Amino acid sequence: MTGEFQRYLRAKRTVDDRALDRRLVETLRTELAARAASADGPLRVLELGAGIGTMVTRCLDWEMVPEGHVQYTAVDLSEESIATLPGHVREWADDRGHTVTDDRTNGRLTVETGRTRVEVDAVVAEGVEYAREANAEADLVMGVALLDLIERTELPTILGAVADGGLYYFPITVDGGTRFNPAHPADRGVERLYHAHMDRKAGGSSRAGGEVLALLQSQPGVSVAAAGSDWIVKPVDGAYPADEAVLLRHILRTVESAVTEVTDGEFDSLAEWLTTRRQQVDDAELVYHTHQLDLFGQVVDSATAQNDGHD
Ligand SMILES: C[S@@+](CC[C@H](N)C(=O)[O-])C[C@H]1O[C@@H](n2cnc3c(N)ncnc32)[C@H](O)[C@@H]1O
Repeated sequence: MTGEFQRYLRAKRTVDDRALDRRLVETLRTELAARAASADGPLRVLELGAGIGTMVTRCLDWEMVPEGHVQYTAVDLSEESIATLPGHVREWADDRGHTVTDDRTNGRLTVETGRTRVEVDAVVAEGVEYAREANAEADLVMGVALLDLIERTELPTILGAVADGGLYYFPITVDGGTRFNPAHPADRGVERLYHAHMDRKAGGSSRAGGEVLALLQSQPGVSVAAAGSDWIVKPVDGAYPADEAVLLRHILRTVESAVTEVTDGEFDSLAEWLTTRRQQVDDAELVYHTHQLDLFGQVVDSATAQNDGHD
């Protein structure tokens, strides 16, 4: 595993696993299987902001993708994450006895689980531009924990990569709540400044989940289903599960740099707040909770969905 951010993405796998709404996962599984049954060729999945590929492995672990042949394109802006993806997938496959082959001519990774053969193309690219250039041929377009980082007005472009009758899935979309417990007097100030930092980044929003839901509901040519997928990270029997302390330490570093940047280092309570929170992680006492939404639906008519409905 390479950098600190990639270790964070790996550590968040178990937290996402708990949070993802199972009703939507089940609907996605059923709809994809129906689509695969009526398709001529392989099922085509496009994931934007794919990070180190934890959704690739989850799709196989949870049998979200159907039996047979799947072509999976994993796109991310980060060269380091895309460089980490093959090793991450390989390690996961080795643990389960699945076969992985590498095609050195095109960098394609093929995973055989016995049930499903997935060909993974990992691509360094900006997601919206990639979707804009792609033909509307994906059976499924996904973005996990992504839409708070991308201009919401680009949603029609992303949906434009979905084939007629295909699906979209945008789970773990931040929706305006960050809570730390036990309570600390600086909590409200920290949360307000942390969210202000998300909001001022280009395309960023601390309330992306609700904004995307509203956009999808007004979008012609798409259906939409939504459910909560809050993260709750807490100690169990005196310790954090798996690598979740790594996630908490990363979140505290992110809060530190966000609040420092947004206040020019002038938020006096920050240092003491961070010291307290870091000690609570070391002592397995901190509970962290964020509110998020999972969004899922069908693109009934791709050409219509590329239109924002306001022309
Ligand atoms: C919070 S991480 C989530 C990663 C992965 N989906 C997961 O859940 O493990 C957001 C990811 O989106 C990528 N990203 C951010 N903006 C992007 C963009 N405009 N195009 C493509 N990827 C982007 C980041 O590099 C990062 O890997």
